[in-house]
Amino acid sequence: MLKFVFGKTARYPGYEVEHYQVRRKIRSVSLNLKYGGFSHTTLGVLAQICHKLKLSLLQDYRFYNRMSVPDWLDVGGIHEQSELDLPEKARGSATRYEATEEYEFRYVLERLPIAIEDYKFIDYGSGKGVVLSFAADYPFRRVTGVELSPMLHQVAEKNIEEMHRHQKVNSGPVYSTLRDATEYEMPERPHVIYLFNPFGPDILEGVLDRLSRHLSDVDQPSYLLYNNPIHHQVIENHGLFHKTASRMGGKWFVYATGNEQ
Ligand SMILES: C[S@@+](CC[C@H](N)C(=O)[O-])C[C@H]1O[C@@H](n2cnc3c(N)ncnc32)[C@H](O)[C@@H]1O
Repeated sequence: MLKFVFGKTARYPGYEVEHYQVRRKIRSVSLNLKYGGFSHTTLGVLAQICHKLKLSLLQDYRFYNRMSVPDWLDVGGIHEQSELDLPEKARGSATRYEATEEYEFRYVLERLPIAIEDYKFIDYGSGKGVVLSFAADYPFRRVTGVELSPMLHQVAEKNIEEMHRHQKVNSGPVYSTLRDATEYEMPERPHVIYLFNPFGPDILEGVLDRLSRHLSDVDQPSYLLYNNPIHHQVIENHGLFHKTASRMGGKWFVYATGNEQ
């Protein structure tokens, strides 16, 4: 018990980086209070207690089951890597599709010391585009997703259309592009880059090499938000980014280029 409270563990060993789960849970409750309100949070906590007691009551109210995204966005579910229409050579490195939790994303993003309107946003391995919909709520100059699965990219394009139809885009243009992350050419501008553990070390190194070419001469720092940073060592060994923060009990790492703290 003490080890669980004070030590780092993974809820899903093999899928998840070890982190302080209790700290993450406390932060998660405070974020649900901040963004979701009191009754949403109370029901979520009660649902979690029922789950622990193996009671089937209130399970629809668990935070995980209550994605805060609107009904007209198709973003949910988990698609195992074997179900995705990925090119064979990339399959070994790719992870499964699952969506980021909105409140965690907002919390980490809102703590960056930046004027968001000076930045472009990019999600490598953007899936159905849920994070693009979160980022488009902020005044980024542009929001881009890079996704390798045609099936998920198609859903993302539909979601982007819906976001426009419901007038939910507060950023510059929003795109989903269908390609391998190592092949994306980014403009030489400051970026907020997002990774939700999308691929293994080989692809990550290729992405970092390309980012070095595009970001090294940009004066303003760029930031990298790495959710579930299983391959963080690759980033730390590469040298383009240095770590500036650890969030959600260590489930997220934040990196910056240059001398930024
Ligand atoms: C864990 S999901 C994250 C989805 C989305 N970013 C989110 O946070 O909601 C990882 C995604 O990375 C994609 N992916 C895996 N390898 C890739 C690659 N080499 N290039 C681009 N996308 C890739 C997968 O198809 C999957 O959709």
